[in-house]
Amino acid sequence: AVNRTPLIAGNWKMNLDHLQSIAFVQKLAWSLKDARHDFDQVEVAVFPPFTDLRSVQTLIAADKLPLEFGGQDVSQHDSGAYTGEISGAFLRALECKYVIVGHSERRQYHAETDEVVAAKVSAARRNGLVPVLCVGETADDLEQHGPSAVPVAQLQAAIAGLPKTADLVVAYEPVWAIGSGTPATPEQAQTVCKALRTALEEALGQDAAASTRILYGGSVKAANIAGFMRQPDIDGALVGGASLDVAEFASIARYRQ
Ligand code: G3P
Repeated sequence: AVNRTPLIAGNWKMNLDHLQSIAFVQKLAWSLKDARHDFDQVEVAVFPPFTDLRSVQTLIAADKLPLEFGGQDVSQHDSGAYTGEISGAFLRALECKYVIVGHSERRQYHAETDEVVAAKVSAARRNGLVPVLCVGETADDLEQHGPSAVPVAQLQAAIAGLPKTADLVVAYEPVWAIGSGTPATPEQAQTVCKALRTALEEALGQDAAASTRILYGGSVKAANIAGFMRQPDIDGALVGGASLDVAEFASIARYRQ
């Protein structure tokens, strides 16, 4: 899409420990460099578990690898008596650029409401992280409310009150497509991503709508990425399962070839 650098992001979820993460990131960087991947044309980011971040940071810095990385979640608080939570300040201190916020697995298994997600978007921004805000409908939502209503409402709730210049990435992940092997069709995904862009414009203005990247996520693989990337309002992918295989993830990032 026009003037927006595509982002191919790998959400590892709860996979790969810190030792595995080092081998994985090394192989990924070699594989992309071997293939002469143009990192200015397509940005590549990984989202490892928290316990891997220090290793990933050290490796990327030492070898000057052109990869970005981020956390999979962030606390809405910056410090204090919140056992088990990780603050945005800690993630920033590890040089994370991004953080995933509001993934459907957090909404579902950790009861994250739109309110909590909005607080996490603020916490990310206050600590200099770019939130990768996930929105998406369940199969029931789709049946009851149609394709765009739930994801658009989730987006509106999460970005209400953000300044017009807020740096943000939105990921549209239909819950029924995650890990199911059945992705949305590129046309279905485009319809929702277009509605999300309109909602961005209403909330944050034309410039924010034009510059914000909207990713599709849900059973993306090398064999189907090109169809999504041809859509005018889809600017990349948030990849789960297929991001755990170096060769597969590298070929998703190289969708142009
Ligand atoms: O955040 C990415 C994810 O939820 C999609 O997972 O396994 O369907 O690519 P997967």
